[in-house]
Amino acid sequence: MEQRALWGSKIGFLLAAVGSAVGLGNIWRFGYMAYENGGGAFLVPYSVALVLAGIPLMVLEYALGHMEKGSAPLAFTRVSSKWESVGWWMPTIAFFGINLFYAVVIGWCMNYFVFAFTQAWGADTGAFFMHQFLQISDDVFHFGGIRWPILAGTLFTWLVCWAICYREVSHGIEKASMIFMPLLVVLTLVLVGWSLQLPGAWEAVRANYLTPHWDKINPFTAGGGKVWVAAFGQIFFTLSLGFGIMITYASYLPKKTDIVTNALITSILNCLYSFVTGFAVFGTIGFMAAQKGVPFAEAIKSGPGLAFVVYPEAINQLPAGKTVFGLLFFLVLIMAGLSSAISLVEAFCCALMDKFDLPRGKTVTAVCVLGALGSVIFTTRAGLYILDIVDHFVNNYGLVSGGIIECVLVGWVLKAAVARRHVNNVATLSLPAFWEVLIRYITPTLLVVVLGFALVNEFATRYSGYSVSALLLFGIGWLVLALVISLVLTRYTWAAGKLKRKHDPDDDQLLV
Ligand code: PHE
Repeated sequence: MEQRALWGSKIGFLLAAVGSAVGLGNIWRFGYMAYENGGGAFLVPYSVALVLAGIPLMVLEYALGHMEKGSAPLAFTRVSSKWESVGWWMPTIAFFGINLFYAVVIGWCMNYFVFAFTQAWGADTGAFFMHQFLQISDDVFHFGGIRWPILAGTLFTWLVCWAICYREVSHGIEKASMIFMPLLVVLTLVLVGWSLQLPGAWEAVRANYLTPHWDKINPFTAGGGKVWVAAFGQIFFTLSLGFGIMITYASYLPKKTDIVTNALITSILNCLYSFVTGFAVFGTIGFMAAQKGVPFAEAIKSGPGLAFVVYPEAINQLPAGKTVFGLLFFLVLIMAGLSSAISLVEAFCCALMDKFDLPRGKTVTAVCVLGALGSVIFTTRAGLYILDIVDHFVNNYGLVSGGIIECVLVGWVLKAAVARRHVNNVATLSLPAFWEVLIRYITPTLLVVVLGFALVNEFATRYSGYSVSALLLFGIGWLVLALVISLVLTRYTWAAGKLKRKHDPDDDQLLV
Protein backbone atom coordinates (compact mmCIF):
# COMPACT_ATOMS: atom_id res chain seq x y z
CA MET A 1 0.00 0.00 0.00
CA GLU A 2 1.37 3.38 -0.95
CA GLN A 3 1.97 5.97 1.72
CA ARG A 4 -0.47 8.77 2.12
CA ALA A 5 0.85 12.19 1.12
CA LEU A 6 1.53 14.55 3.99
CA TRP A 7 1.66 18.29 4.50
CA GLY A 8 5.18 19.67 4.50
CA SER A 9 4.72 21.76 7.65
CA LYS A 10 2.30 22.53 10.42
CA ILE A 11 1.90 26.10 9.31
CA GLY A 12 1.24 24.94 5.74
CA PHE A 13 -1.67 22.81 6.92
CA LEU A 14 -3.03 25.61 9.10
CA LEU A 15 -2.88 28.16 6.31
CA ALA A 16 -4.62 25.77 3.93
CA ALA A 17 -7.39 25.13 6.47
CA VAL A 18 -7.79 28.83 7.24
CA GLY A 19 -7.73 29.46 3.48
CA SER A 20 -10.69 27.13 3.04
CA ALA A 21 -12.59 28.78 5.85
CA VAL A 22 -11.86 32.38 4.87
CA GLY A 23 -13.83 32.96 1.71
CA LEU A 24 -16.35 35.20 0.06
CA GLY A 25 -18.75 34.57 2.95
CA ASN A 26 -16.44 36.28 5.44
CA ILE A 27 -16.42 39.42 3.36
CA TRP A 28 -19.90 39.76 2.02
CA ARG A 29 -22.03 37.82 4.47
CA PHE A 30 -20.72 38.36 7.97
CA GLY A 31 -21.00 42.15 8.14
CA TYR A 32 -24.48 42.23 6.79
CA MET A 33 -25.63 39.54 9.19
CA ALA A 34 -24.21 41.45 12.11
CA TYR A 35 -25.95 44.60 10.93
CA GLU A 36 -29.32 42.90 10.52
CA ASN A 37 -29.11 40.87 13.68
CA GLY A 38 -28.30 43.23 16.49
CA GLY A 39 -25.02 44.94 15.48
CA GLY A 40 -22.42 44.39 18.19
CA ALA A 41 -24.88 42.16 20.06
CA PHE A 42 -24.70 39.65 17.18
CA LEU A 43 -21.28 38.72 18.48
CA VAL A 44 -23.00 36.95 21.38
CA PRO A 45 -25.01 34.37 19.37
CA TYR A 46 -22.11 34.17 16.92
CA SER A 47 -19.61 33.33 19.66
CA VAL A 48 -22.02 30.89 21.31
CA ALA A 49 -22.48 29.14 17.95
CA LEU A 50 -18.72 29.08 17.53
CA VAL A 51 -18.22 27.44 20.93
CA LEU A 52 -21.18 25.05 20.87
CA ALA A 53 -21.09 23.94 17.24
CA GLY A 54 -18.15 25.41 15.32
CA ILE A 55 -15.17 24.41 17.41
CA PRO A 56 -16.54 20.99 18.53
CA LEU A 57 -17.25 20.06 14.91
CA MET A 58 -13.91 21.35 13.72
CA VAL A 59 -12.29 19.07 16.34
CA LEU A 60 -14.55 16.25 15.17
CA GLU A 61 -13.64 16.65 11.49
CA TYR A 62 -9.93 16.90 12.25
CA ALA A 63 -10.09 13.92 14.61
CA LEU A 64 -12.00 11.74 12.14
CA GLY A 65 -9.77 12.56 9.17
CA HIS A 66 -6.64 12.13 11.24
CA MET A 67 -7.69 8.94 12.94
CA GLU A 68 -9.05 7.18 9.87
CA LYS A 69 -6.57 8.71 7.42
CA GLY A 70 -9.02 9.27 4.66
CA SER A 71 -11.38 11.60 2.87
CA ALA A 72 -15.01 11.53 4.06
CA PRO A 73 -16.09 8.32 2.23
CA LEU A 74 -13.00 6.37 3.30
CA ALA A 75 -13.09 7.66 6.87
CA PHE A 76 -16.82 6.90 7.17
CA THR A 77 -16.42 3.43 5.69
CA ARG A 78 -13.62 2.63 8.09
CA VAL A 79 -15.90 3.52 10.98
CA SER A 80 -18.78 1.48 9.55
CA SER A 81 -19.18 0.24 5.99
CA LYS A 82 -22.90 1.04 6.11
CA TRP A 83 -22.06 4.71 6.25
CA GLU A 84 -20.16 4.98 3.00
CA SER A 85 -22.91 6.64 0.98
CA VAL A 86 -23.29 9.39 3.55
CA GLY A 87 -19.56 9.92 3.37
CA TRP A 88 -19.93 10.50 -0.36
CA TRP A 89 -22.81 12.91 0.12
CA MET A 90 -20.59 15.54 1.75
CA PRO A 91 -17.85 16.04 -0.88
CA THR A 92 -20.37 15.47 -3.67
CA ILE A 93 -22.71 18.21 -2.49
CA ALA A 94 -19.69 20.42 -1.86
CA PHE A 95 -18.50 19.96 -5.40
CA PHE A 96 -21.77 20.07 -7.32
CA GLY A 97 -23.65 22.30 -4.93
CA ILE A 98 -21.02 24.91 -4.13
CA ASN A 99 -17.89 24.58 -6.22
CA LEU A 100 -19.67 24.94 -9.57
CA PHE A 101 -21.13 28.34 -8.77
CA TYR A 102 -18.33 29.47 -6.46
CA ALA A 103 -16.01 29.31 -9.49
CA VAL A 104 -18.42 31.50 -11.45
CA VAL A 105 -18.52 34.11 -8.69
CA ILE A 106 -14.72 34.19 -8.66
CA GLY A 107 -15.04 34.62 -12.45
CA TRP A 108 -17.21 37.71 -11.83
CA CYS A 109 -14.56 39.04 -9.46
CA MET A 110 -11.91 38.55 -12.15
CA ASN A 111 -13.98 40.58 -14.59
CA TYR A 112 -14.47 43.30 -12.01
CA PHE A 113 -10.76 43.29 -11.28
CA VAL A 114 -10.25 44.26 -14.92
CA PHE A 115 -13.09 46.81 -14.77
CA ALA A 116 -11.42 48.41 -11.75
CA PHE A 117 -8.60 49.74 -13.94
CA THR A 118 -10.99 52.22 -15.54
CA GLN A 119 -14.04 52.00 -13.25
CA ALA A 120 -15.81 50.59 -16.30
CA TRP A 121 -18.95 50.10 -14.20
CA GLY A 122 -19.87 53.76 -14.71
CA ALA A 123 -22.15 55.86 -12.53
CA ASP A 124 -25.12 53.50 -12.23
CA THR A 125 -23.39 50.45 -10.81
CA GLY A 126 -26.62 48.53 -10.16
CA ALA A 127 -27.80 48.79 -13.74
CA PHE A 128 -24.30 47.98 -15.00
CA PHE A 129 -24.09 44.79 -12.93
CA MET A 130 -27.55 43.47 -13.77
CA HIS A 131 -28.04 44.61 -17.34
CA GLN A 132 -24.67 45.17 -18.90
CA PHE A 133 -22.54 42.62 -17.09
CA LEU A 134 -24.92 39.76 -16.25
CA GLN A 135 -27.47 40.76 -18.90
CA ILE A 136 -29.92 39.07 -16.60
CA SER A 137 -32.90 37.38 -18.23
CA ASP A 138 -36.46 37.83 -16.99
CA ASP A 139 -36.96 34.29 -15.71
CA VAL A 140 -35.02 31.37 -14.25
CA PHE A 141 -35.89 29.23 -17.24
CA HIS A 142 -34.87 31.81 -19.85
CA PHE A 143 -31.17 30.95 -20.12
CA GLY A 144 -30.65 33.34 -23.02
CA GLY A 145 -27.20 32.02 -23.96
CA ILE A 146 -23.80 32.21 -22.32
CA ARG A 147 -22.14 35.45 -21.15
CA TRP A 148 -18.71 34.98 -22.67
CA PRO A 149 -16.69 37.27 -20.37
CA ILE A 150 -18.14 35.42 -17.37
CA LEU A 151 -17.32 32.06 -18.94
CA ALA A 152 -13.77 33.27 -19.59
CA GLY A 153 -13.31 34.28 -15.92
CA THR A 154 -14.83 30.98 -14.78
CA LEU A 155 -12.56 28.89 -17.01
CA PHE A 156 -9.57 30.80 -15.75
CA THR A 157 -10.64 30.02 -12.17
CA TRP A 158 -10.86 26.31 -12.97
CA LEU A 159 -7.47 26.48 -14.64
CA VAL A 160 -5.92 27.96 -11.49
CA CYS A 161 -7.66 25.34 -9.30
CA TRP A 162 -6.38 22.63 -11.63
CA ALA A 163 -2.82 23.94 -11.61
CA ILE A 164 -2.78 24.07 -7.80
CA CYS A 165 -4.50 20.75 -7.05
CA TYR A 166 -2.58 18.89 -9.76
CA ARG A 167 0.48 18.69 -7.54
CA GLU A 168 0.71 16.79 -4.24
CA VAL A 169 -0.76 18.76 -1.32
CA SER A 170 2.61 19.75 0.09
CA HIS A 171 3.58 21.33 -3.22
CA GLY A 172 0.22 22.45 -4.56
CA ILE A 173 -2.32 23.56 -1.98
CA GLU A 174 0.27 24.14 0.72
CA LYS A 175 2.52 26.35 -1.42
CA ALA A 176 -0.48 28.26 -2.79
CA SER A 177 -1.82 28.87 0.73
CA MET A 178 1.60 30.03 1.91
CA ILE A 179 1.40 32.75 -0.73
CA PHE A 180 -2.33 33.54 -0.71
CA MET A 181 -2.95 33.79 2.99
CA PRO A 182 -0.22 36.17 4.15
CA LEU A 183 -0.93 38.34 1.10
CA LEU A 184 -4.63 38.25 1.85
CA VAL A 185 -4.06 39.40 5.42
CA VAL A 186 -1.78 42.26 4.39
CA LEU A 187 -4.10 43.48 1.62
CA THR A 188 -7.14 43.21 3.89
CA LEU A 189 -5.44 45.26 6.57
CA VAL A 190 -4.52 47.92 4.02
CA LEU A 191 -8.14 47.97 2.89
CA VAL A 192 -9.40 48.26 6.47
CA GLY A 193 -7.01 51.11 7.27
CA TRP A 194 -7.84 52.96 4.08
CA SER A 195 -11.59 52.53 4.56
CA LEU A 196 -11.57 53.70 8.15
CA GLN A 197 -9.93 57.03 7.41
CA LEU A 198 -12.55 57.98 4.82
CA PRO A 199 -14.90 60.73 6.00
CA GLY A 200 -17.96 59.32 7.76
CA ALA A 201 -16.48 55.82 7.95
CA TRP A 202 -15.73 55.52 11.62
CA GLU A 203 -19.08 56.98 12.67
CA ALA A 204 -20.86 54.41 10.50
CA VAL A 205 -18.80 51.59 11.99
CA ARG A 206 -19.62 52.72 15.49
CA ALA A 207 -23.31 53.30 14.92
CA ASN A 208 -24.12 50.30 12.75
CA TYR A 209 -21.52 47.63 13.41
CA LEU A 210 -20.42 47.98 16.99
CA THR A 211 -23.41 49.41 18.87
CA PRO A 212 -25.22 46.45 20.41
CA HIS A 213 -28.98 46.15 20.10
CA TRP A 214 -29.59 43.66 22.87
CA ASP A 215 -33.34 43.45 22.29
CA LYS A 216 -32.72 41.85 18.89
CA ILE A 217 -30.94 38.80 20.26
CA ASN A 218 -33.45 37.83 22.93
CA PRO A 219 -34.07 34.19 21.97
CA PHE A 220 -37.50 34.23 23.58
CA THR A 221 -38.93 36.55 20.96
CA ALA A 222 -39.76 35.37 17.43
CA GLY A 223 -37.18 37.69 15.83
CA GLY A 224 -34.56 36.78 18.44
CA GLY A 225 -34.91 33.06 17.64
CA LYS A 226 -34.16 33.79 14.01
CA VAL A 227 -30.99 35.64 14.93
CA TRP A 228 -29.69 32.58 16.76
CA VAL A 229 -30.50 30.30 13.87
CA ALA A 230 -28.74 32.69 11.49
CA ALA A 231 -25.66 32.70 13.72
CA PHE A 232 -25.43 28.89 13.66
CA GLY A 233 -25.90 28.80 9.89
CA GLN A 234 -23.17 31.37 9.36
CA ILE A 235 -20.71 29.59 11.65
CA PHE A 236 -21.16 26.40 9.67
CA PHE A 237 -20.72 28.00 6.29
CA THR A 238 -17.82 30.18 7.31
CA LEU A 239 -15.82 27.34 8.87
CA SER A 240 -16.37 25.12 5.78
CA LEU A 241 -17.85 22.43 8.03
CA GLY A 242 -20.18 19.63 6.97
CA PHE A 243 -18.56 19.12 3.55
CA GLY A 244 -15.78 16.77 4.51
CA ILE A 245 -13.14 19.34 3.65
CA MET A 246 -11.53 19.47 7.06
CA ILE A 247 -11.69 15.66 7.24
CA THR A 248 -9.70 15.51 4.01
CA TYR A 249 -7.17 18.14 5.06
CA ALA A 250 -6.62 16.40 8.42
CA SER A 251 -6.05 13.06 6.67
CA TYR A 252 -2.75 14.45 5.35
CA LEU A 253 -1.50 15.17 8.87
CA PRO A 254 1.20 13.02 10.43
CA LYS A 255 0.50 11.03 13.56
CA LYS A 256 1.77 13.49 16.14
CA THR A 257 -0.52 16.41 15.62
CA ASP A 258 -2.19 18.71 18.05
CA ILE A 259 -5.82 18.43 16.96
CA VAL A 260 -7.36 20.71 19.56
CA THR A 261 -4.87 23.52 19.13
CA ASN A 262 -5.22 23.39 15.35
CA ALA A 263 -9.00 23.40 15.52
CA LEU A 264 -8.97 26.36 17.89
CA ILE A 265 -6.53 28.33 15.76
CA THR A 266 -8.39 27.66 12.50
CA SER A 267 -11.78 28.60 13.93
CA ILE A 268 -10.63 31.68 15.79
CA LEU A 269 -8.51 33.07 12.95
CA ASN A 270 -11.41 32.68 10.55
CA CYS A 271 -13.87 34.51 12.80
CA LEU A 272 -11.33 37.19 13.59
CA TYR A 273 -10.86 37.75 9.87
CA SER A 274 -14.61 38.23 9.45
CA PHE A 275 -14.75 40.68 12.33
CA VAL A 276 -11.83 42.77 11.10
CA THR A 277 -13.10 42.80 7.51
CA GLY A 278 -16.41 44.11 8.83
CA PHE A 279 -14.64 47.38 9.63
CA ALA A 280 -13.72 47.81 5.97
CA VAL A 281 -17.23 46.95 4.80
CA PHE A 282 -19.02 49.28 7.23
CA GLY A 283 -16.44 52.02 6.81
CA THR A 284 -16.68 52.03 3.02
CA ILE A 285 -20.46 51.90 2.96
CA GLY A 286 -20.68 54.56 5.67
CA PHE A 287 -18.41 56.82 3.63
CA MET A 288 -20.53 56.31 0.52
CA ALA A 289 -23.79 56.92 2.37
CA ALA A 290 -22.37 60.13 3.82
CA GLN A 291 -21.17 61.33 0.40
CA LYS A 292 -24.51 60.68 -1.21
CA GLY A 293 -26.54 61.85 1.73
CA VAL A 294 -28.51 58.61 1.95
CA PRO A 295 -29.26 56.73 5.18
CA PHE A 296 -26.91 53.81 5.94
CA ALA A 297 -29.84 51.38 5.93
CA GLU A 298 -30.49 52.18 2.29
CA ALA A 299 -26.88 51.79 1.26
CA ILE A 300 -26.03 48.41 2.76
CA LYS A 301 -26.52 45.16 0.86
CA SER A 302 -25.40 41.58 1.26
CA GLY A 303 -23.79 39.10 -1.14
CA PRO A 304 -23.24 40.02 -4.79
CA GLY A 305 -25.07 43.31 -4.26
CA LEU A 306 -22.42 44.37 -1.77
CA ALA A 307 -19.40 43.40 -3.85
CA PHE A 308 -20.58 44.32 -7.33
CA VAL A 309 -22.98 47.22 -6.76
CA VAL A 310 -22.27 48.97 -3.45
CA TYR A 311 -18.48 48.72 -3.52
CA PRO A 312 -18.09 50.01 -7.09
CA GLU A 313 -20.39 52.87 -6.15
CA ALA A 314 -18.28 53.66 -3.10
CA ILE A 315 -15.15 53.52 -5.26
CA ASN A 316 -16.73 56.09 -7.59
CA GLN A 317 -17.02 58.47 -4.65
CA LEU A 318 -13.42 58.18 -3.50
CA PRO A 319 -11.47 61.41 -3.53
CA ALA A 320 -8.29 59.66 -4.73
CA GLY A 321 -6.89 56.25 -5.58
CA LYS A 322 -10.05 54.83 -7.15
CA THR A 323 -8.15 52.35 -9.32
CA VAL A 324 -5.84 51.06 -6.59
CA PHE A 325 -8.70 50.71 -4.11
CA GLY A 326 -10.78 48.79 -6.66
CA LEU A 327 -7.93 46.48 -7.62
CA LEU A 328 -7.20 45.84 -3.97
CA PHE A 329 -10.79 44.98 -3.11
CA PHE A 330 -11.32 42.58 -6.00
CA LEU A 331 -7.95 40.98 -5.48
CA VAL A 332 -8.89 40.29 -1.86
CA LEU A 333 -12.13 38.65 -3.02
CA ILE A 334 -10.31 36.58 -5.67
CA MET A 335 -7.72 35.29 -3.23
CA ALA A 336 -10.22 34.55 -0.48
CA GLY A 337 -12.38 32.76 -3.06
CA LEU A 338 -9.62 30.75 -4.69
CA SER A 339 -8.26 29.37 -1.43
CA SER A 340 -11.78 28.10 -0.64
CA ALA A 341 -12.40 26.78 -4.15
CA ILE A 342 -9.27 24.63 -4.10
CA SER A 343 -10.41 23.01 -0.87
CA LEU A 344 -13.69 22.03 -2.50
CA VAL A 345 -11.86 20.53 -5.50
CA GLU A 346 -9.47 18.68 -3.22
CA ALA A 347 -12.20 17.16 -1.04
CA PHE A 348 -13.92 15.63 -4.06
CA CYS A 349 -10.73 14.53 -5.84
CA CYS A 350 -9.28 12.99 -2.70
CA ALA A 351 -12.47 10.96 -2.21
CA LEU A 352 -12.21 9.60 -5.76
CA MET A 353 -8.49 8.90 -5.41
CA ASP A 354 -9.07 7.09 -2.12
CA LYS A 355 -11.76 4.85 -3.51
CA PHE A 356 -10.49 4.00 -6.97
CA ASP A 357 -6.76 4.30 -6.37
CA LEU A 358 -6.46 6.78 -9.21
CA PRO A 359 -3.42 8.92 -9.89
CA ARG A 360 -3.78 12.51 -8.68
CA GLY A 361 -2.99 14.22 -11.99
CA LYS A 362 -5.63 12.42 -14.03
CA THR A 363 -8.28 12.70 -11.31
CA VAL A 364 -7.77 16.42 -10.86
CA THR A 365 -7.82 17.00 -14.61
CA ALA A 366 -11.05 15.05 -15.05
CA VAL A 367 -12.73 16.70 -12.07
CA CYS A 368 -11.75 20.22 -13.16
CA VAL A 369 -12.99 19.60 -16.72
CA LEU A 370 -16.25 18.26 -15.30
CA GLY A 371 -16.45 21.26 -12.98
CA ALA A 372 -15.85 23.75 -15.77
CA LEU A 373 -18.59 22.11 -17.85
CA GLY A 374 -20.97 22.10 -14.89
CA SER A 375 -20.30 25.77 -14.21
CA VAL A 376 -21.53 26.75 -17.67
CA ILE A 377 -25.16 26.84 -16.56
CA PHE A 378 -24.28 29.59 -14.07
CA THR A 379 -22.66 31.67 -16.79
CA THR A 380 -25.91 31.98 -18.73
CA ARG A 381 -28.16 35.00 -18.47
CA ALA A 382 -30.25 33.16 -15.86
CA GLY A 383 -27.09 32.24 -13.92
CA LEU A 384 -27.69 34.58 -10.98
CA TYR A 385 -31.16 33.15 -10.33
CA ILE A 386 -29.97 29.54 -10.47
CA LEU A 387 -26.99 30.33 -8.28
CA ASP A 388 -29.23 31.99 -5.72
CA ILE A 389 -31.56 28.98 -5.53
CA VAL A 390 -28.79 26.35 -5.41
CA ASP A 391 -26.91 28.34 -2.76
CA HIS A 392 -30.02 28.68 -0.60
CA PHE A 393 -30.83 24.97 -0.63
CA VAL A 394 -27.30 23.67 -0.30
CA ASN A 395 -26.49 26.01 2.58
CA ASN A 396 -29.67 25.45 4.48
CA TYR A 397 -29.92 21.71 4.06
CA GLY A 398 -26.72 20.21 2.62
CA LEU A 399 -24.39 21.71 5.16
CA VAL A 400 -26.41 21.25 8.30
CA SER A 401 -27.41 17.70 7.38
CA GLY A 402 -23.70 16.93 6.92
CA GLY A 403 -23.08 18.24 10.45
CA ILE A 404 -25.83 16.13 11.98
CA ILE A 405 -24.59 13.02 10.18
CA GLU A 406 -21.07 13.57 11.48
CA CYS A 407 -22.28 13.97 15.05
CA VAL A 408 -24.22 10.71 14.89
CA LEU A 409 -21.38 8.83 13.22
CA VAL A 410 -18.63 9.97 15.56
CA GLY A 411 -20.78 10.43 18.67
CA TRP A 412 -22.71 7.17 18.51
CA VAL A 413 -21.33 4.73 15.93
CA LEU A 414 -17.63 5.28 16.51
CA LYS A 415 -18.33 6.58 20.04
CA ALA A 416 -17.23 10.02 21.06
CA ALA A 417 -15.05 8.56 23.79
CA VAL A 418 -12.95 6.69 21.21
CA ALA A 419 -12.40 9.83 19.17
CA ARG A 420 -11.54 11.80 22.29
CA ARG A 421 -9.04 9.19 23.39
CA HIS A 422 -7.43 9.37 19.97
CA VAL A 423 -7.16 13.15 20.12
CA ASN A 424 -5.75 13.07 23.63
CA ASN A 425 -3.17 10.45 22.69
CA VAL A 426 -1.63 12.71 20.11
CA ALA A 427 -2.29 16.13 21.61
CA THR A 428 -0.68 18.33 24.19
CA LEU A 429 -3.82 20.37 24.76
CA SER A 430 -6.33 17.79 25.88
CA LEU A 431 -9.94 17.60 24.88
CA PRO A 432 -12.31 17.86 27.87
CA ALA A 433 -14.97 15.20 28.50
CA PHE A 434 -17.62 17.83 27.86
CA TRP A 435 -16.80 17.55 24.16
CA GLU A 436 -18.42 14.11 24.20
CA VAL A 437 -21.62 15.59 25.62
CA LEU A 438 -21.56 18.29 22.94
CA ILE A 439 -21.05 15.90 20.05
CA ARG A 440 -23.55 13.32 21.23
CA TYR A 441 -26.33 15.56 22.45
CA ILE A 442 -25.98 19.32 22.33
CA THR A 443 -24.53 20.06 18.87
CA PRO A 444 -26.82 17.67 16.94
CA THR A 445 -29.88 18.93 18.82
CA LEU A 446 -29.00 22.51 17.97
CA LEU A 447 -28.47 21.55 14.33
CA VAL A 448 -31.81 19.77 14.18
CA VAL A 449 -33.44 22.97 15.48
CA VAL A 450 -31.65 25.00 12.78
CA LEU A 451 -32.81 22.53 10.14
CA GLY A 452 -36.36 22.61 11.50
CA PHE A 453 -36.44 26.40 11.36
CA ALA A 454 -35.24 26.35 7.76
CA LEU A 455 -37.88 23.80 6.79
CA VAL A 456 -40.72 25.71 8.45
CA ASN A 457 -39.58 28.85 6.66
CA GLU A 458 -39.38 27.00 3.36
CA PHE A 459 -42.99 25.99 3.50
CA ALA A 460 -44.18 29.30 4.89
CA THR A 461 -42.74 31.45 2.12
CA ARG A 462 -41.55 30.56 -1.34
CA TYR A 463 -37.86 31.44 -1.35
CA SER A 464 -37.37 34.86 -2.93
CA GLY A 465 -40.65 34.47 -4.80
CA TYR A 466 -39.26 31.97 -7.35
CA SER A 467 -41.74 29.63 -9.02
CA VAL A 468 -42.32 26.24 -7.41
CA SER A 469 -40.96 24.47 -10.49
CA ALA A 470 -37.72 26.50 -10.38
CA LEU A 471 -37.30 25.72 -6.68
CA LEU A 472 -38.00 22.04 -7.23
CA LEU A 473 -35.68 21.70 -10.19
CA PHE A 474 -32.70 23.79 -9.10
CA GLY A 475 -33.12 23.55 -5.32
CA ILE A 476 -34.43 20.12 -4.43
CA GLY A 477 -33.24 18.74 -7.80
CA TRP A 478 -29.67 19.70 -7.03
CA LEU A 479 -29.78 17.93 -3.68
CA VAL A 480 -31.30 14.84 -5.28
CA LEU A 481 -28.66 14.85 -8.02
CA ALA A 482 -25.90 14.88 -5.41
CA LEU A 483 -27.63 12.06 -3.57
CA VAL A 484 -27.90 9.93 -6.72
CA ILE A 485 -24.24 10.50 -7.58
CA SER A 486 -23.28 9.54 -4.01
CA LEU A 487 -25.29 6.33 -4.23
CA VAL A 488 -23.78 5.42 -7.60
CA LEU A 489 -20.25 6.01 -6.33
CA THR A 490 -20.99 3.88 -3.28
CA ARG A 491 -21.96 0.90 -5.44
CA TYR A 492 -18.47 0.49 -6.87
CA THR A 493 -16.06 -1.67 -4.91
CA TRP A 494 -12.99 -0.23 -3.25
CA ALA A 495 -9.67 -0.62 -5.04
CA ALA A 496 -7.63 -3.49 -3.59
CA GLY A 497 -6.08 -2.81 -0.20
CA LYS A 498 -7.72 0.60 0.19
CA LEU A 499 -9.75 -0.28 3.22
CA LYS A 500 -6.83 -1.80 5.10
CA ARG A 501 -4.70 0.28 7.34
CA LYS A 502 -1.04 -0.28 7.89
CA HIS A 503 1.39 1.45 10.19
CA ASP A 504 3.14 4.06 8.20
CA PRO A 505 6.62 5.00 9.48
CA ASP A 506 6.17 8.47 8.08
CA ASP A 507 3.42 8.95 10.61
CA ASP A 508 5.91 9.36 13.37
CA GLN A 509 7.36 12.41 11.73
CA LEU A 510 6.74 15.54 13.77
CA LEU A 511 5.70 18.58 11.79
CA VAL A 512 7.27 21.83 12.81
N1 PHE B 1 -16.02 29.09 4.12
C1 PHE B 1 -16.21 29.70 2.85
C2 PHE B 1 -16.69 31.13 2.98
O1 PHE B 1 -16.89 31.64 4.05
C3 PHE B 1 -17.22 29.02 2.01
C4 PHE B 1 -16.98 27.60 1.82
C5 PHE B 1 -17.85 26.71 2.36
C6 PHE B 1 -15.90 27.18 1.13
C7 PHE B 1 -17.60 25.40 2.22
C8 PHE B 1 -15.63 25.87 1.01
C9 PHE B 1 -16.52 24.98 1.55
O2 PHE B 1 -16.87 31.77 1.98
